[in-house]
Amino acid sequence: MNTERLKEVLTQARHETGKVIIGQHDVIERALIAIFTGNHALIEGVPGVAKTLLVRTLAHVLGSDFARIQFTPDLMPADITGTNVFNLQRNEFSLIKGPIFTSFLLADEINRAPAKTQSALLQAMQERCVTIDRDTHTLPANFTVFATQNPIEYEGTYPLPEAQKDRFMLKIVMQSPARDEELTLAQRTMTKESPETLLASGVVKPVIQAEDITLLREQMGLIVMRDELTAYLVDIVRATRTHESILVGAGPRATQSLIMAARAFAAMSGRDFVTPDDIKTMAQPVLEHRLILRPEFEIEGLSVPEVIQQILQQIAVPR
Ligand SMILES: Nc1ncnc2c1ncn2[C@@H]1O[C@H](COP(=O)(O)OP(=O)(O)O)[C@@H](O)[C@H]1O
Ligand SMILES: [Mg+2]
Repeated sequence: MNTERLKEVLTQARHETGKVIIGQHDVIERALIAIFTGNHALIEGVPGVAKTLLVRTLAHVLGSDFARIQFTPDLMPADITGTNVFNLQRNEFSLIKGPIFTSFLLADEINRAPAKTQSALLQAMQERCVTIDRDTHTLPANFTVFATQNPIEYEGTYPLPEAQKDRFMLKIVMQSPARDEELTLAQRTMTKESPETLLASGVVKPVIQAEDITLLREQMGLIVMRDELTAYLVDIVRATRTHESILVGAGPRATQSLIMAARAFAAMSGRDFVTPDDIKTMAQPVLEHRLILRPEFEIEGLSVPEVIQQILQQIAVPR
């Protein structure tokens, strides 16, 4: 087994997705990193920056199915998992599967739903199965959640507890398009090449079938990380627990996530081995949603990304 096929698929998937999504190169890369390492991701971005279109397009390009759940204050766990309904004809109960039974799930505005519904989704993310009336149902092998959140200051939000946020490998920040990208979007919207028609037209080709993802994920394990780099990575995560401005640092899951993300980023760059820069590049999206600053430092205007950069500057890069 080697990593050639993996690197080829990652390149093709980026190319096909880029036919629909204008710009957003880092975003597409990070979404593919979550998918090909078997993890989940938080997506942050104002309305209309193509969060939904991104996940729908990736599902199409990776031959997988897609579902979207709009989280609302009255959403119940059974609305996402499904329920057993009594079937009169067959005189027995049968399961009506909920939208969670899919490969790529977009959980929109997850922090608008109450804690018990949030934890029904987060439990499924962790265990890759759901229990309905004491029966356990396995979710598809490619089950991947992309969750969006409303900014905390929005009315009626139930902030995700730290322990729950820790279950997301990385946070993907989608900025509004640059001027030239928005010009391209405007031109496309006026032709038959609007993003949606492109997706529906067959121009965008699936590069694999859903069942191929499992094997490609295994190839990720072949990407080499030498011991000095593993120690370097561990020191970065541990530094978040002692940095003077940090109230809550990152836990051991962050170490695991950063290892997987750095390997995937190396493969995305066509290499079979990890470099220090891979670790530095992935430190931001992997650590950002896991850190809480001390209020006094936040008041002074310090931000989490700045603190992560400070830590990266403080720790010596192994030769
Ligand atoms: N970078 C982009 N590339 C292509 N289309 C885009 C881009 N940004 C916005 N759009 C357009 O804006 C629409 C809104 O996207 P949508 O996925 O619904 O946004 P969100 O889920 O972030 O609110 C899309 O359907 C698409 O036509
Ligand atoms: Mg949307």
